[in-house]
Amino acid sequence: MIIYNDRLVEREEIQIDIEDRGYQFGDGVYELVSIYDGKIFRLKEHLDRLQYSAEQIGMTLPVSLSTLETNLYKLMEVEKIENGQIYFQVTRGPAPRNHPFPPSAKPVLTGYSMFKPRPVESMQKGVSVIISEDLRWLRCDIKSLNLLGSILAKQKAAEQGAIEAILHRNGTVTEGSASNFFMIKDGKLHTHPIGNLILNGITRIVVLECAAKAGIEVIEQPFTLKELEQADEAFITSSTMEIMPVVQIDGKPVGAGHPGEVTRRLQEQFEIART
Ligand code: PDD
Repeated sequence: MIIYNDRLVEREEIQIDIEDRGYQFGDGVYELVSIYDGKIFRLKEHLDRLQYSAEQIGMTLPVSLSTLETNLYKLMEVEKIENGQIYFQVTRGPAPRNHPFPPSAKPVLTGYSMFKPRPVESMQKGVSVIISEDLRWLRCDIKSLNLLGSILAKQKAAEQGAIEAILHRNGTVTEGSASNFFMIKDGKLHTHPIGNLILNGITRIVVLECAAKAGIEVIEQPFTLKELEQADEAFITSSTMEIMPVVQIDGKPVGAGHPGEVTRRLQEQFEIART
């Protein structure tokens, strides 16, 4: 089954209008949550971010957050998802094609469950990434359906056998195409501050809590590609990748070329936070 506005329906029961503004303009917002042992991880934070994204584009959600929460759990139950993910999105809805917000459009909420196993092996061994220019817009704090800037970067990474593209604006590192980015230098954790240039990742929030618990100093300030070259360790974070060590950037090893000690400590803390 899937979530459709305020209810659960069979996927075949609904049709998406070809003039739905999500389909035509990418006019909408989305979330992706992870489910661990029958519980949606940090659901409140995800729902608050959905509300924030919708507000920022002048859109009213078609259901209350509590109805949405109830339906997310119902979906989890009927689909028997003990571990997995739910993707949900809200578009501004169908209306005759015209750029300004149509007064008639009613937002459309859809959501469905998936199962992608936790990338346990990669989390142990680490992954390779590439550096790519950040070609996205200037409201990356909104979790918008418009993802062309991200998918072009991710595709470039995939073509080079890398898992992610780390983006930069004029030499300043922002985040990954679908993840937040951290580097460690002399035991301190560096990451770009929140604001309009990055998404306020929920995993990022949890990692900052983990760092506080582990007594790791955090510096939320922009850093450059040059500074990144000197990093001892690096990792990316997202709801699906959790804390993913980065051991190679553009073919060059990060630090010793394997997941470092600070990353490991954070992964241990994350494991406690997650379960
Ligand atoms: N991506 N930054 C960007 C640009 C992202 O797209 C994501 C998530 C994150 C991490 O956010 P969180 O920790 O809340 O998952 C950061 C999701 C997973 C996606 O688009 O598939």
